[in-house]
Amino acid sequence: MSHPRQKNKFALFFITTAATLLALYLIFKFEPQLHDLLGARMGGLASRADTIVALVKLIFLALLAYLLVRASNALVFGLVRFRRGFEAPTLVRNIFSIVAFTGLFFLIFTSIFPDANLGALFTTSAIFGVILGLALQDTLGNFFAGISLQADRPFQVGDVITVGVQRHSGVVEEITWRAVKIRTFQNHVVLISNSTAAREPIEVCSRDNLNARLVFFNTLFTDSPAKTIHVVREAVREADNVSQKISPIVRIRNLGDSGVEYEVKYWLDDYAKYNDTDALVRQRIWYAFRRAGLNFAYPTRTLLVERKPKIGAGGEDGGAIVERLAAVDIFAPLSAQETGMLAQAATSHVFAPGETVIRAGDPGSSMFVVHNGRVSVQVSENGRSRTVATLSEGAFFGEMALFTGEPRTANVVALEETEVLEIGHAAMKLVFDTNPDLVESLSHIIAERRQALAASEDLSGGDKDESAGLLSSIKRFFGLS
Ligand code: CMP
Repeated sequence: MSHPRQKNKFALFFITTAATLLALYLIFKFEPQLHDLLGARMGGLASRADTIVALVKLIFLALLAYLLVRASNALVFGLVRFRRGFEAPTLVRNIFSIVAFTGLFFLIFTSIFPDANLGALFTTSAIFGVILGLALQDTLGNFFAGISLQADRPFQVGDVITVGVQRHSGVVEEITWRAVKIRTFQNHVVLISNSTAAREPIEVCSRDNLNARLVFFNTLFTDSPAKTIHVVREAVREADNVSQKISPIVRIRNLGDSGVEYEVKYWLDDYAKYNDTDALVRQRIWYAFRRAGLNFAYPTRTLLVERKPKIGAGGEDGGAIVERLAAVDIFAPLSAQETGMLAQAATSHVFAPGETVIRAGDPGSSMFVVHNGRVSVQVSENGRSRTVATLSEGAFFGEMALFTGEPRTANVVALEETEVLEIGHAAMKLVFDTNPDLVESLSHIIAERRQALAASEDLSGGDKDESAGLLSSIKRFFGLS
């Protein structure tokens, strides 16, 4: 309402209405004088004066009717917008105005000219109607097709539709007298005439419906379908705009020439963003494949000889990993040989930004060292997650569950693309056997982190003897003397 153009419109409306009412008041008040004046000017043609006065009345009353129709149009459709939350289509508003105005005009005309034979008027104009109808064939076709579209309501403004054999696809912006206006995903506007829209098949993905998409991928024949399906479903489920209401479905489409062909079906919260979401789903599949050691299928005729390094992402040599582990403070007491052993046993995993590396409550039998990137350690507080620490290259996490056998105490989420080195229970036991002092320094760190967690959860802090207790429980867990 505060919009200046809206204000101007209101002012213009009120001024015109006031002027029309004043004019009508004057005409009706001074009607006899007007007759006399016109009669005197036109000499003997007094009947002409009558017609002129009646015509002037007709014009002003028609103007008043027009203003009335506009006001009630704004009122009625404003109410519709308020109640239903969306704008009524232009076509419906226009039809309302025309029908209301024609009705009012008919009433005014018959009351001013009671003797006029409207029936005859219509009959004589029938021939012109035919001529006009032929000339306006297309326009009228679009008009009536528009009416039937409105009556049917197969789609509304905001829905995504795909029309006809040319498969024009986009978001419906407007439905007018002549055409349906859609904005394509390349931000072009396509106008589809109403008669075309009524004739052609239309695929409607309405805003208030959970619409699904299919994304395709494949794996080598050697990759397990059960593992693939689980890994992909979990990866897709967490992507933005993938509906939480229905779990994604991953299934085998075909056993193809080059590998097993899959499709993942997922449902979107906002269908208009399906291009971005498809891309994100493919990205998540790529990262999940990389971590789970799954492989996309290559055409079988390609001869690919690949020698995979045992450790290190992207074929990185073990040297960098040994260096990384040697720089981790808790591993400082290890000899070069022991660090090398640990590096041999470590496996590298890459996580996309926003992906969860460790989930609180899960069981865990390995710890991680951040090789590249950054992670945040988060605890959930009243349903909201709170960051208790941010760990970057060289830091480690996941040691609590590994050393105590208890469930994971926090969520650890990648803040950027992050490569972590995973060290399992067996490898750590080997290191402990040769270097028992390590257990002690680890128990201090775990006790510290536990205290930080307890403080963040507003619990009473861990007691001072906790690290001693931990020490013996780690020793027990690892079967150390
Ligand atoms: P774990 O319980 O196995 O899994 C979650 C991990 O988050 C946990 O091991 C620790 O490594 C890490 N963590 C928990 N609290 C903190 C903290 N206060 N500072 C740093 N890391 C922490």
